Amino acid sequence: MKPRCLITGGAGFIGSHLAEELVKRGHKVTILDNLYKGEHSYHQELFQHIPFIKASILEKDVIEELVANHDVVFHLAAILGVKSTMDKSVELIETNIDGTRNILQAAKKYNRKVVFASTSEVYGKATPPFSEDGDRLYGSTDKLRWCYAVCKTLEETLCLGYGLQGLPVTIIRYFNIYGPRAKDGPYAGVIPRFISAALQGKPIQVYGDGTQTRCFTYVSDAVEATIKAMDEGVNSEIINIGSENEISIRDLAALIRTMTNSKSPIIYVPFEKVYPIGFEEIPNRRPDTVKLKQLLSFEPTVSFTEGLTQTIEWFKREL
Ligand SMILES: NC(=O)c1ccc[n+]([C@@H]2O[C@H](COP(=O)([O-])OP(=O)(O)OC[C@H]3O[C@@H](n4cnc5c(N)ncnc54)[C@H](O)[C@@H]3O)[C@@H](O)[C@H]2O)c1
Repeated sequence: MKPRCLITGGAGFIGSHLAEELVKRGHKVTILDNLYKGEHSYHQELFQHIPFIKASILEKDVIEELVANHDVVFHLAAILGVKSTMDKSVELIETNIDGTRNILQAAKKYNRKVVFASTSEVYGKATPPFSEDGDRLYGSTDKLRWCYAVCKTLEETLCLGYGLQGLPVTIIRYFNIYGPRAKDGPYAGVIPRFISAALQGKPIQVYGDGTQTRCFTYVSDAVEATIKAMDEGVNSEIINIGSENEISIRDLAALIRTMTNSKSPIIYVPFEKVYPIGFEEIPNRRPDTVKLKQLLSFEPTVSFTEGLTQTIEWFKREL
């Protein structure tokens, strides 16, 4: 029988795609999510065919019962995003750390496999390409921007500690995932912000001078690699999940403007205006994907143009 899967944060962007794909492959799936970011129209369809428990990862009893009744936990629930890191640091630290501890304790008790969603943020300002065993580099603690990275680092370390005690656990580090369902809003990522602005004829706001670079990964590729992290039995491993195609934010703005046939101006906004305190930019971010290829036999397959086309189409329907 296929492993029964619990997805924390399964109502969110990546989690909802993961849930649907696992169901397609014949897994019994349960979503646990407290709808922290509010409800959306896609939730109605999602919850029609996948059992949904509205609860927080901070509710230990609920977690324990659910973990006991599943074989694998994909732990994706978290408070995330650069802006949340600075606006809601206490809530973010307490939720992410305590929530992950609850999941790991329950998984240890019932000997359940955990796939933990970490992030490329853990590398901080290190020099790319970022390899899983490379050094990390953060700014000072008064730069609140780093608190999400510090939390995920501690959560990873906790995972590895439980791994030493025999827990089957795999840590995946996502690099800038994008696609349908990643919404625009005050805490949105750069691709949803740009597409939404471009389609509405509003200025496309590039923060800083736009020379910072990122590697974007389409959500279906991220989901495929996440499922492989369960299937391949690679325990106590950390694996980057991302593409190696780097693009500057300035070029991204121009590309999205062209692809949406938009007349929106591209404007440059100083970081101090967007993030009054506690910000520091990561100039370049690119994964080393050797482990992704070797341990998960995986390489992203969706081209950036195709992924952006799908995402733009979704936004057109949304708007
Ligand atoms: N999207 C990316 O580019 C990216 C990059 C790196 C890492 N990640 C990690 O991947 C995971 C999923 O990210 P996403 O982009 O889908 O984010 P998301 O915000 O869309 O999903 C997170 C989900 O967690 C839920 N949640 C928040 N607090 C909760 C709580 N206390 N109890 C239960 N549920 C709670 C939210 O309601 C949301 O549905 C996160 O752990 C994130 O740190 C994402």
